[in-house]
Amino acid sequence: MNILGISAGFHDAAATVVNSQGDIVFAGHAERYSKKKNDPDIHKDLIWDACNAGGIDHVAYYETPWKKQLRQWYSGQGIEWNKLTTKQILQQQLKGFFPTASHSCHSHHLSHAAGGFQTSPYDRATVVVIDAIGEWDTITIWGAEYDRTGRARYKRLWAQRYPHSLGLFYSAITKRVGLHPLDEEYITMGMAAYGRDNYHHVMEAVLVRDLEEIEFGQNLHTGVDNEFMGSLSNEDIAASAQTLLERLIGNIMQRAKDFKWSTNLVYQGGVALNCLANRKLGNYFENIWIMPCPGDAGSSLGAAALAYGKRLHWNNAYLGHNIPGAYPVDSIVRGLLHDRLVGVASGRTEFGPRALGSRSLLADPRGTEIKGQVNAIKRRQQFRPFAPVILEEHVGKYLLCLVAGVTVGICKQFPFAGILTYFLLLFTLTKLVVCRLCQKMAAALDRRWKHGMLRLGVLCC
Ligand SMILES: [Fe+2]
Repeated sequence: MNILGISAGFHDAAATVVNSQGDIVFAGHAERYSKKKNDPDIHKDLIWDACNAGGIDHVAYYETPWKKQLRQWYSGQGIEWNKLTTKQILQQQLKGFFPTASHSCHSHHLSHAAGGFQTSPYDRATVVVIDAIGEWDTITIWGAEYDRTGRARYKRLWAQRYPHSLGLFYSAITKRVGLHPLDEEYITMGMAAYGRDNYHHVMEAVLVRDLEEIEFGQNLHTGVDNEFMGSLSNEDIAASAQTLLERLIGNIMQRAKDFKWSTNLVYQGGVALNCLANRKLGNYFENIWIMPCPGDAGSSLGAAALAYGKRLHWNNAYLGHNIPGAYPVDSIVRGLLHDRLVGVASGRTEFGPRALGSRSLLADPRGTEIKGQVNAIKRRQQFRPFAPVILEEHVGKYLLCLVAGVTVGICKQFPFAGILTYFLLLFTLTKLVVCRLCQKMAAALDRRWKHGMLRLGVLCC
């Protein structure tokens, strides 16, 4: 039986196909087809690609529509009467495809949890889900394990509900610093590196009612006032918010650890994309798995996992549309030598927001002007960072880790750029630069790089 998992109708539409052996035979984002960021609707070509994986017998939807509508009504967003049932939404999104397939819907946070646990290498794990809003839950902690028949079981250990939401807090700050909420939080995180976090205690005193229970004194769904901390620069606001976010995540992780369910952590939800905060997770758990697409798009995989019921075979993140042919190593090298910048589109698209070599912009990092050129091509802010790609055996030659308890070995654990940490980057003997590096460099460890592509040091974004 082939199962099609769908997340669609609100933002970040995606589709995943799981076959009867538990293989993830396809997973793709709508935005890669429509070129509309966070596209809420399934694109017809995405469905065609999913169909290539085989006939679909069952469609699994990533949340419970009537609960979502009830929450939307409560929060003043009104009810979308044409999105009250799974059948209604699937008819709108799939446009007549799979008329004979059965369908099911699953809890929003449980879909997040399953997308993580059932792709993880663990038999038993504590699962933490932190996002903005879905149905009612905003933070959940689960005890997950497989029973004797191999079926995944989830025990709900703790939850926080709307309107108390870490994701909405960070989105409110994102709006306050002039960016798009529920979209550009990753830019807020990048901006935080350029500010002073001296004001996180003030921010905490104004906004947070209970640090342990993660309760806010006001509903942050509609944002904060434009005058909020008006004497500060956007960078200082972002830095202070990042520090407060990390403190609150720390409290959640401590609570999760205190349940003593497992020393393995599976971490999911949109907030799990904050790779800067993720550097501290090792303070609470011995082993950590963050599926490379932990947000709502990844819940298409989670819904399919719940319908399948057992562990899925996870091999790598290259699960989307395929551009056939050998990886163009020679062309990349020629392009880097001649033009210093190369766009790569080869093989299957990465599932998740990180460019891991299949759809990437690569650059020769030598010189001072290349960063500006890449940012100009990508039409993004000049402060946005890049990730170096370095072969594993050379990491120690170029990088000196500055965070106690985090070693180069972390690269092996996080091959999908899910964790950002501090390193001393040794550019030359005379030039030392302290910078924050996205763990994209860990992509160097993934199988794609073993094709010999990156015998050069390059920037990857
Ligand atoms: Fe979510």
